[in-house]
Amino acid sequence: MTASNIVLVGFMGTGKSTVGQKLAERLGWTFQDSDAALEEEQQTSISDLFRIHGESHFRALESKVLEHILIRKGQVVATGGGAVLAECNRACMLQNGFVVALKASPEMIIQRVSSDTSRPLLQGNLEERVHLLLEERKSSYDFAHTVIDTTELTTDQIVALIIQQAEL
Ligand code: S3P
Repeated sequence: MTASNIVLVGFMGTGKSTVGQKLAERLGWTFQDSDAALEEEQQTSISDLFRIHGESHFRALESKVLEHILIRKGQVVATGGGAVLAECNRACMLQNGFVVALKASPEMIIQRVSSDTSRPLLQGNLEERVHLLLEERKSSYDFAHTVIDTTELTTDQIVALIIQQAEL
């Protein structure tokens, strides 16, 4: 069976957007980023949404955006790192695509996210926040159809692995 969508999940800084764009290009599929779609729809930034309305408001909007995106087929979808926390999101992803969890070492994650200081959940001591959230979410990505540790891999290698594992 050929996957209708490829859904990328994973902690912040695991390369979902970079890999997703390249994979979509390779397959000739549409690339969707749930965070970008949400910002576009709400005409505001994720950090402002968190700051003004709080995380639970953001999570409710995130679920709606994801559900809406996953109505369509032939897409590579990069999701926000916390999209996996809601059972309804996990079910929607599993029903509508081949779900790939990208993992990376804490050191690699810290290196990658340190260039973007806008992430609301990583304010304060970056290293402490990453370690704490990784611990809290240690099993949150295990529901995926497959898990890829990207730490030692290039984007091209990750893309090739996904194409192979999704049997595309
Ligand atoms: C979040 C990850 C972010 C974004 C929001 C919350 C999280 O997306 O959705 O800041 O809870 O892990 P990225 O994983 O693309 O950074």
